[in-house]
This record gives sequence, C-alpha cells and structure tokens, in this order.
Amino acid sequence: MSDSHLFDHVALAAQVKRQRKYAWDLDKGVQWSLGVDTTLPFLPLDSQSIACPGASQEQRLALSQLVGLIINSTISEMESVITKLRRVAWAEPLREFSVNPEMWELGDLFFIEENKHALAFNRFNQLFCQTEGIDPEQLDRLLPKAFGSLFLKAVIANAKSGGHAFWWIVAAVEEVSLSLFQDIHRVRDSIDPLYYEVHKKHMEEEKRHHNYAFLMLELIERRSFSLKRLLHRKTDLLFGQLFSSGWVLGELNKIFLAESMTNDHPFFQVIASCLPLMRQLTIPELMSRLFVSAPYVSLVLNTKNHRLTSRMAITHRAFNFPFPDPNITPLAPPEPTERPLKKKYG
Ligand SMILES: [Fe+2]
Ligand SMILES: [Fe+2]
Repeated sequence: MSDSHLFDHVALAAQVKRQRKYAWDLDKGVQWSLGVDTTLPFLPLDSQSIACPGASQEQRLALSQLVGLIINSTISEMESVITKLRRVAWAEPLREFSVNPEMWELGDLFFIEENKHALAFNRFNQLFCQTEGIDPEQLDRLLPKAFGSLFLKAVIANAKSGGHAFWWIVAAVEEVSLSLFQDIHRVRDSIDPLYYEVHKKHMEEEKRHHNYAFLMLELIERRSFSLKRLLHRKTDLLFGQLFSSGWVLGELNKIFLAESMTNDHPFFQVIASCLPLMRQLTIPELMSRLFVSAPYVSLVLNTKNHRLTSRMAITHRAFNFPFPDPNITPLAPPEPTERPLKKKYG
C-alpha cells in the first residue's frame, strides 16, 4: 500500500502470479459434500445473543445460524454489486491514469474472485435451506439484498459524478471479512465445518487481494486537482459510511418479518420467539448494542473497527463519521450444553 507498491510493477506482477496460482475452484475447492450440520451454530454469540438477552439454547442456536446467513448474504450482496460498478468506478479511472498493465490484471482477478465468493456464500445459504427444508425464497425475505436499494443507487450516482465512495466501501468490506474470520477461526471446532470452510477459502483469497481497494484509493488520490475532486476526496468516505450503514440497519430490520412466517417453518418460529427479547431493549440500548458491543453487526456498522480504512482516511484527510468507540464483548466457544444436537425444534 506504499507509494512504491502502486508503481512497483515487479511486486504487482508477483501478486498477479500468486493470485492465479492459488485461486480455488468454486466446485472443487470447497468440500460441499460435507453438507450443513444444522444442529451446530455458525457463529459464536456473545452473552447478550447479539441483542436478545436471556435467549434460550434453542433460540441462541437459531440466532447464531440466522446471523451467519445474514453475514453470508451481506458479503455476497456487496461482492455482487461490485460488478455493477466495474466500468464507472474501475475501468474509467484506470484509463484516465494510464496505469501499468498489472493494475488492470489485478483488477480483473479481483472482480472474478469477488464474483466467485458471492456464489460460494449463496451456495452455502441454499444448502442450509435444502437441509432444513426451508423454501429459499422465504429465507431471502429475512436476508439483506442490495440490488434495487437506495444504497446501490447512491453509490452508482457518486461514481458517475467522479466520486470513489465505492472503493471506501470495498476497503471496509475486505477488512470486515478478514476480522470476521479471526472470530470464526478461534471456535472452529464448535461450529458447522462447512461454514468454517467457506469462510476459510474466502479469507485465503481476501488476504491475497485485499490491498487492491487501497491501491485504487491511492491512485484516485493522485488524479489532477479540481474543486469537485477535492470535495469528493473529503466527503466520499462519509457518503459511503452513511449509505452502507443505513442500508445494513434497514436490512437488519427484516428480521421482524419472521413474525409473519411462523407457520412456514419451525426455524422462523424460533426466530420470531426471540423478537420480544429484543423489544425489551430501549432504543438507545439497542443502538448501543448494534454499533458498539454486538459482535459482527457492530463490526459491519462501525467503521472504528476498520483500522486500515481509518488509517487511509487520515492520509487522505477524508471526513470520517464519528462512530462511538467499539467495545465488543468477548465471544466464547458455544458450551457443549448449548447445542440441542439430537433433535431440533422440540
Ligand atoms: Fe470476497
Ligand atoms: Fe475481496
């Protein structure tokens, strides 16, 4: 991410080689035959069960799985919308700056890899539905969707007007997925093995290409000066933060739809039974959990958790939203007694 790196075609060519050599295949690179063990959690929860204090073991298991599916869907949607911005946010700035061919090659690989990751996360979610006998369209009602959202329209409009909010968002998502894996890795023996494997394969490629968004930000910083560009440089991070956090909050609200789906599947029934616990929280308590202390959710919503992006914001002298300091409560591996292993849903 240093200056020399952006123009160091030898280092960039080595990265191209590495990415090509170690790229995994969507069908053969993941052990899909493991199937999903739906008696196991997908993610470890904190003592407050994200925002449902007092949840029972059965509720915690369903919440862990739903949050795991929401995380998959959030990353997958973000990775899918990337393709929509390919021309305006990637090809046009590269053409304008006439960069070395390696930046083009790395970009091509970046888009190919992100598309594959989106498919992998979706495939996991589909497998969960198959195993549980849930209609995927029903589950989709609870999961985040970016296409057609105000968030996507705003980011496209920003890119068309010469902004680069898109790359700030990508940089943050890359960081979130790497931090998320650290949490999962610590409890790998107590969660569903396929969930772990999908995130492990994802992390491998993210680690190899996560510098690309920062390289793009660095490149854009070097474009010739104009007042409009100065304005974008100052405000695009803030713009991206407000629209992406607004989108995530709005999509999380979909969980309340579970109350109208209790007759469709016992999974939705258990999720619906958690909602009164969430309603016990006052609005300030709920916001504090979502932005400050709840694992995963605050990781996505609160950019104070994105250290590289925050550091880049200082270098670019970009306005950064003053999110509260994160204080994520420690996660513990699920207790053995926490798993209703034999028979779910009663
Ligand atoms: Fe990815
Ligand atoms: Fe990525």
